[in-house]
Amino acid sequence: MPSEVRTIFIGGEWSAAQSHDSLEVRSPTDGEVFGAISRGGKPEIERAVDAARAALAGPWSTTAGFERGRIMSKLSALILDHLEELAQLEARDTGKPITQARTDIRATARYFEFYAGAADKVLGDVLPFLDGYQVTVQREPRGVCGLIIPWNYPASMFGRTIGPALATGNTVVLKPAEDASMSCARLTALAHEAGLPAGVINLVTGLGEEAGAALSQHPDVDFLSFTGSPEVGTLIQTAAARNHVPCVLELGGKSPQIVFDDADFERAAQTIVGVITQNAGQTCSAGSRVLVQRSAYDRFVGMLKARMSAVRVGAPEADLECGPVINRTQAQKVQGFLDRARGDGIDVIAQGSLDRSAVRTGYFVLPTLFGPVPTTHELAQDEVFGPVLAAIPFEDEAEAIAIANGTAYGLVAGLWTENGARQMRVAKKLRVGQVFVNNYGAGGGIELPFGGVKRSGHGREKGLEALKEYTVAKTVVLRHG
Ligand code: NAI
Ligand code: MG
Repeated sequence: MPSEVRTIFIGGEWSAAQSHDSLEVRSPTDGEVFGAISRGGKPEIERAVDAARAALAGPWSTTAGFERGRIMSKLSALILDHLEELAQLEARDTGKPITQARTDIRATARYFEFYAGAADKVLGDVLPFLDGYQVTVQREPRGVCGLIIPWNYPASMFGRTIGPALATGNTVVLKPAEDASMSCARLTALAHEAGLPAGVINLVTGLGEEAGAALSQHPDVDFLSFTGSPEVGTLIQTAAARNHVPCVLELGGKSPQIVFDDADFERAAQTIVGVITQNAGQTCSAGSRVLVQRSAYDRFVGMLKARMSAVRVGAPEADLECGPVINRTQAQKVQGFLDRARGDGIDVIAQGSLDRSAVRTGYFVLPTLFGPVPTTHELAQDEVFGPVLAAIPFEDEAEAIAIANGTAYGLVAGLWTENGARQMRVAKKLRVGQVFVNNYGAGGGIELPFGGVKRSGHGREKGLEALKEYTVAKTVVLRHG
């Protein structure tokens, strides 16, 4: 009998699903099954939430911030000790080029390092009030946090959600994506090794509509964090509303790169192509529209063309610019966008090429630059979540801002201009969560608050800002006379 799949971690113990069901894990690189995860559902979520609740009342509640920080520092060090193993696992599971996977694992370690240092610095306030009163506002943990993360950056999202949750004294139940749970399981084991008490981190692998839905609807969960599609984001917020609990939603974007005619074209072209092909374009903050001032359109698009044509797509171990997308559905979704755009008569300006390591059974799509794309076209409005870039000309500042703000999303904007006054003027008018001027993404920026407006979601992750989401203010009014 094959050994049972045990990727569920509850109360410090690994287990299989009660149903004994498991889910196959396929490599995006060749479509072959290389592993399995337990198919957790409602019973496992109930046990996990109970374990997280019990841990909240246990020693964790009296563990000082600096002690929590020490365990997190140890986890950060363990992640770096296992960097290569984790990177190989992440590359195999998600298809990302190995260098990109290593960067993600370093980011994961950085999250725990950053939030370890923050754990004893979650400060409250003393408020001036009436004579004879002393008012303090203290920040308390939310309690049991339900975290649902996607498959594009599983390891680093483990750090991005669990880091601030633990720094502020919460306990968590994590539901990773069915398409990429392997690194989260390994990181959970390392967290246990680092000395986290049983029940502080609980992991339930399984399907979104089973384990994910059960977690989001559980009446004893105090806070929800979700990253993924806007459609599921609506379900999560509806569940949160029913239980009257807060949620943070990060739902992707259609982020513009705005290139004015005075920009540093070399730097801009290199960054813009790098960003849309990184992780095969499956990045919530990917700059998927490039708005170019008409006076510079031909010249700059020519530079993008040269760079996009040079992008090679292949297996993670070939370590090229671009790997496969996550699964067959996603490959078909991206291909659908490419086919419809062509069918609608939009010109393909440039396409990358398939490397020999890109086998036929893998989920590969060609990085593609289209343009000019009408602003009303789906390529200019909808999230493709693939290596597809839409070039759109604009006349002046006012039109650039109107086009940039003219989608349902509002996550990130890149602004490329050497004119300092314009940098500030335009940055102020963009309806997004973050603006990068003459750079984009800032290497992941653990320290930088991150989140969206409009359909991109609400709430902030990363940086010290995330600590506010994972805590609740308690006002204590004391009359001393
Ligand atoms: P998804 O939104 O369905 O999955 C994200 C997470 O939510 C996964 O852990 C999944 O198991 C869980 N989930 C799914 N249905 C759920 C439910 N009913 N209740 C609770 N949790 C649930 O995203 P999917 O299907 O993997 O990808 C579809 C599209 O979503 C992509 O093509 C892309 O456009 C977008 N997406 C955006 C991401 C981002 O970073 N903003 C990440 C992943 C997907
Ligand atoms: Mg889905």
